[in-house]
Amino acid sequence: MTVAFNLATAVEAALAKAAAAAGLDAAAFSPDVRPADPRHGDYQANGVLGYAKSRKLNPRATAEQLVAALAPEIRDEFDIAIAGPGFINFTAKAHLLQAWVDAHANRSALEAGAAASSGKSGQVWIVDYSSPNTAKQMHVGHLRSAVIGEAICRLLAFGGARVIRDNHIGDWGTQFGKLIWAYKRQRDDAALASEPLEEFERLYKAGNNAAEADPTVLDEARQELVKLQSGDTENLAIWRHINEVSLAAFQKIYDLLGIHFDLTLGESFYNDKVEAVYESLIRAGLAETSQGALVVFHPEHPRFKTQPFIIRKSDGAANYASTDLATIRYRTEHYHASGALYVVDKRQGDHFEQLFLTAKKWFDKEGWTLPRLEHVDFGTVLGENNKPLKTRSGDNIRLKDLLGEAVERARRLVDEKSAELPEGERAEIASIVGVGSVQYADLCQNRSSDYVFSWDKMISLEGNTAAYLLYAVSRIHSIFRKLGLKAGEGEAGATALETPTEIALARRLVKFADALQASIAQLCPHFLCTYLYELAGEFSAFYSADKVAVDDLAIRARRLQLCARTLLILECGLNILALKTLQRM
Ligand code: ARG
Repeated sequence: MTVAFNLATAVEAALAKAAAAAGLDAAAFSPDVRPADPRHGDYQANGVLGYAKSRKLNPRATAEQLVAALAPEIRDEFDIAIAGPGFINFTAKAHLLQAWVDAHANRSALEAGAAASSGKSGQVWIVDYSSPNTAKQMHVGHLRSAVIGEAICRLLAFGGARVIRDNHIGDWGTQFGKLIWAYKRQRDDAALASEPLEEFERLYKAGNNAAEADPTVLDEARQELVKLQSGDTENLAIWRHINEVSLAAFQKIYDLLGIHFDLTLGESFYNDKVEAVYESLIRAGLAETSQGALVVFHPEHPRFKTQPFIIRKSDGAANYASTDLATIRYRTEHYHASGALYVVDKRQGDHFEQLFLTAKKWFDKEGWTLPRLEHVDFGTVLGENNKPLKTRSGDNIRLKDLLGEAVERARRLVDEKSAELPEGERAEIASIVGVGSVQYADLCQNRSSDYVFSWDKMISLEGNTAAYLLYAVSRIHSIFRKLGLKAGEGEAGATALETPTEIALARRLVKFADALQASIAQLCPHFLCTYLYELAGEFSAFYSADKVAVDDLAIRARRLQLCARTLLILECGLNILALKTLQRM
């Protein structure tokens, strides 16, 4: 028997077949199978109601016909019940759960299953995330795009898509005039060597203050910008240096967060591509001049009919909108992507709405196919005072300090709980738990909401936290260690699942497919987090009810199998979220 990775798809297919067999209009009937409220079953088909209503049929009678026409295999695999006005509930029987557990013994089996059911297999997705501005530190405001973006890349890749990670850095802009002015006059080479981003920030401030105090400085800074924009060798070299150094500093943070970009095509890359955008949009009759700027109005939109999308500033310079339009065109021509996802703060919602509207009309006029464009938004990280998180003195918190503090705090937890482990191992665990706690706290919330950053809640062994899940992972490793086995060994000769806790755990394992599917379809990692937390809880219940190292080797084997599968799914799940895992804690 081959078992579907996602049992919902098997139920769906069986119902579609039954519809034809029962004489329903199969083309018009969509079974609409979803995970059910666990009190009623594993899956629920909701499609009968709408179908029966549109045809003035009695939904319960239609449901009965359908169930009677279901193939014998599906009746053998599920307990099936009609509920309420015409829902059909399916509860997987123990032998089906068992078969699923047997069939999904390693990561590749899970990936193959996910690819078969995700609907994304073979598609190409460009994910535009992190994308900070250069010459500045990354601060806490940059955390979410990086963490959520990477999880989304891994979710899509697990579902069989080809993912292109693009860091659309802000590496061009008027700030470079003042920065270069100060760089030439006031730079501290020692500081530049040891803490370059701090030094760039200091220089920018110095240039800015000097320009505010003295109009001749302001003028000189403008000249530096003009020189840069017109390709002056010296200024270009300084600018290049600033960007290289910035990227090297960003990469240190990306390494901690498990991020490697395929592309880093920042705003400057599109400098020579914006002219064609203006021309094309003017030719298409979409762009017009308004108060010296080139703009696009959207007359059909309640706000954007009066609030235009400015695609070239009145001084003739390109802006965020021009480069984003050029980027869409470039990506379409070079990557033939199914779509592009922009993992960006929801406060940029208007920008993306206008960008996508403009791109749609533009591509339509030109007869090009527009890939799917989606703003994957997220809320703000708040302090315990419910305001955007800052240091006590009101400054932005640097991401590297935040991650450093997380590791320190995790270290205290590890020292307290696992004093017996060698120093080097404790440091390693602290790094995994610390950084993982920050990532996980960010991912386990619905991304569109703001969330309150709380050290105590996030670095805790209790609740839906990274430490709790990592601890569950280490505990399963230790079960195998104590028996002198590796995970995956000792499963031969297992008897069928029997106790209620064994069956409940197996049922939970099977639901990995549902959580993964929800996360992939809605690009929301928190569904997977909630699932992993529930799985770890289910494992605890199993482990306290059913001893694993029993004398009866057949029972031991089947329980070891459940341990190994739980471990596999916890590790795969955490890896999809870009957390590192450990064997001991
Ligand atoms: N650099 C921008 C910022 O810091 C984010 C860029 C997002 N990506 C894009 N294609 N607009 O706000």
